Amino acid sequence: MSQPNIEPSQVVEGCFLVGRRNPESILQCNTYLRTFQNGSQKTHWCVDPGSELDYPVVKENLLRHVGSLRDIHMFSLNHQDPDVVANLRFLAQENPNLVGVVSEDVWRLVRHLNANPKKLYFTGKVKQNLMRLPDGHRIQLVPTPFCHFRGAVAYYDLETRILFSGDLFGGLNQPGRVQLLGSEEDWAGIAQFHQIYMPTRAAVEYAVRQIKVLDPPVETIAPQHGFVLTGDFMHTVMDRLASLPVGLDLLASELDEKYLAGYREVFREVLHEAAMQIGRGEIFTVLNKLPADHELRQFVKIGKQEAELQSCGFRALPLLIEELSRTQFQSIRSQLKSHVLQRCTDLALPIPQLGVGVEEQAMWIGMQALSLAPDGE
Ligand SMILES: [Fe+2]
Ligand SMILES: [Fe+2]
Repeated sequence: MSQPNIEPSQVVEGCFLVGRRNPESILQCNTYLRTFQNGSQKTHWCVDPGSELDYPVVKENLLRHVGSLRDIHMFSLNHQDPDVVANLRFLAQENPNLVGVVSEDVWRLVRHLNANPKKLYFTGKVKQNLMRLPDGHRIQLVPTPFCHFRGAVAYYDLETRILFSGDLFGGLNQPGRVQLLGSEEDWAGIAQFHQIYMPTRAAVEYAVRQIKVLDPPVETIAPQHGFVLTGDFMHTVMDRLASLPVGLDLLASELDEKYLAGYREVFREVLHEAAMQIGRGEIFTVLNKLPADHELRQFVKIGKQEAELQSCGFRALPLLIEELSRTQFQSIRSQLKSHVLQRCTDLALPIPQLGVGVEEQAMWIGMQALSLAPDGE
């Protein structure tokens, strides 16, 4: 199926992505505005209000479509993470009539934001999970437990057939790749996001099963991160995610054996890449200086001029990159991480937790902490 020809921020008629697209970030936070039309009457629904970091852009984008924030009638929350809910505080302040839909388990935590919407509808109290708006439009509630929170709920707009799925179906993006619709090139980032944030394949598989039986069938998936999915690629992602090892699954020792040969290959390539950049001698100086109780030594046999992965490539690869790119060799870190990402994708290996995209911030936080230390320490 070909992808619809649409404006950058329009998902379909009556639904806009109003979140900030930030080409410098590898995690986009998607907020959506869905507008139901009944004659001349409009009902505006804000899906996952988003991160406080993005609020100025989210507000501006919302105001392009609604006259005033007071015109937004309702909001919904998938779960309680700050990238999903923080802007609720501002929306509720600006609009005393705002009403919301949220699961009880999510609200128990979100209430600590001290945002006070006029009224809340709890998803657990909605009969047959079917909400009817005053203008007759219907929204089907689709609980997706543990994807990634116990009380996560996806919202299915039966008119446009868009499923607002929260973090499920979200993805990391390559820097600069912030187009609206996802395609095959974006799969690695989608897989990596799920491997990091979803607790176990069983939860994802359960959720995908619930989504596949929705009637009428879903045409578009609009997640809270990454790309809108539609057409054949949407079905491909559903099928792949239902069988992707994520979270806890990746810790299973049987998997380690299954993937060891692949990780060994990637491990050798990382050593080779690093040797091209900083020299083989430097690499083995660094590795041989590691203390006897260093975690990497549990997984890697380190000799004078060679090193071989013995087990647990999922953990050893990030450790190796960390050690090789310390101090004066920091410049090779992102290159090595990109290599691992690409090769693990090529070889269908679970993608190790490389912390791609947060290094700069970690460095910034570290510097702040240093500047707080008393003089002389
Ligand atoms: Fe989340
Ligand atoms: Fe999220």
